[in-house]
Amino acid sequence: MKKICLLGASGSIGKQTIDVMKKNRQDFDLISFSVGKRTRCISSLIKSFPNVKAICIKDKNKINYYQKKYPDISFVYGDEGLLKVIDQDVDMVVNALVGFVGLYPTIYSLKKNLIVALANKEALVVGGEIVNDLLNQGFGKLYPIDSEHSAIKKCLLVDDQNIEKIVLTASGGAFRKLSREELVNVTPEDALKHPTWKMGNKITIDCATMVNKSFEIIEAHYLFNYPYDKIGIKLHDESYVHSYVVYKDGTMRLDIGKPDMRNPIRLALYEFNTSFKTVTVNRLDQIVGYHFHDFDINRYPVVNFAKTVIENKGTYGAVFNAANEVAVNAFLNHQIPFLAIEEIIDCLMKKNKNINHPTYEQILEIDRKTRQNAAEMVKNWRK
Ligand SMILES: NC(=O)c1ccc[n+]([C@@H]2O[C@H](COP(=O)([O-])OP(=O)(O)OC[C@H]3O[C@@H](n4cnc5c(N)ncnc54)[C@H](OP(=O)(O)O)[C@@H]3O)[C@@H](O)[C@H]2O)c1
Repeated sequence: MKKICLLGASGSIGKQTIDVMKKNRQDFDLISFSVGKRTRCISSLIKSFPNVKAICIKDKNKINYYQKKYPDISFVYGDEGLLKVIDQDVDMVVNALVGFVGLYPTIYSLKKNLIVALANKEALVVGGEIVNDLLNQGFGKLYPIDSEHSAIKKCLLVDDQNIEKIVLTASGGAFRKLSREELVNVTPEDALKHPTWKMGNKITIDCATMVNKSFEIIEAHYLFNYPYDKIGIKLHDESYVHSYVVYKDGTMRLDIGKPDMRNPIRLALYEFNTSFKTVTVNRLDQIVGYHFHDFDINRYPVVNFAKTVIENKGTYGAVFNAANEVAVNAFLNHQIPFLAIEEIIDCLMKKNKNINHPTYEQILEIDRKTRQNAAEMVKNWRK
């Protein structure tokens, strides 16, 4: 029985993790979890998992109500609270937080030698070097939840010899049929209509801008240790091929399945020690009924930011992520137009005075400053 701490239980990945745990009660128990603003799920989770010992709520003012209602459970709050729920007697931390807030709990869990099932890709974008240093020193273990990385890991587990490159598939997001000229006036409401996946708001916007794919390239670099030019992108309409590897003889190994995050979540919870299938082909058109298109960097220039982060490392990832978080929020609040997101990132990335091998504290400071600069840009947008 694996004892689980679930960070971000109220979110899209969090809820689907609960689904997987409920289906496999004999193997997983929930010991602690966190929620942000959405506290409604707390009571039902306590009912479903009676061994819950600690719960973190983002806001302090909601603690008293729940503490009175459930006196045997420890209620904690804020960023510190996220660490306190990890401090329970758990084997695995499922990190389903969104954004920068997911980095420190990842570092903290690994330092405690815990197993991390990671959905929070921002942790690797911002702190990939720190995370890998810990793993290389033998602290903890880390398994990806992101479907593309889960797919690549499956393929590499079957055969990791003579790899030419790894290829991440991309739906292209809500605006995949639009030209760049047509992106000028798109709204947040349009951007939130993802063609194939139902996800949290932030990642759905990241898919529309392709920042998500850019993040995934960085994530793949840190997880699998391939340079930027060995990580490709293929546009794929149906989101059934989750990613693939290309071998030196031209053959390919793919992971194919329904777009349902419960599959990669399940695999990560079982640390990939469970049966799975991959498929080999000589050409993609051998897979009947699925559509693939070449990726055009001119249509999605944000993917160049992944190259900058991978080739320069240091604080570039922190700047990329912080600028994006502020810009996405501003776009969702109708403060800036869609294309301003990449303009803000581009401007702040160009201003980055890189720090090699930054500490967590240096990253935190860069995150703070970048947010301030991005907020300033939002405030003065085309005044
Ligand atoms: N959704 C997907 O299908 C999918 C697929 C692949 C990868 N991912 C990655 O998985 C991560 C989670 O995505 P998601 O779609 O599940 O996002 P989501 O639905 O927005 O959920 C995010 C979770 O984090 C919590 N949270 C947000 N800010 C917080 C803060 N400052 N302090 C504490 N908790 C906070 C939220 O709490 P409240 O909602 O209660 O405020 C919620 O529980 C992201 O990194 C995303 O890129 C998601």
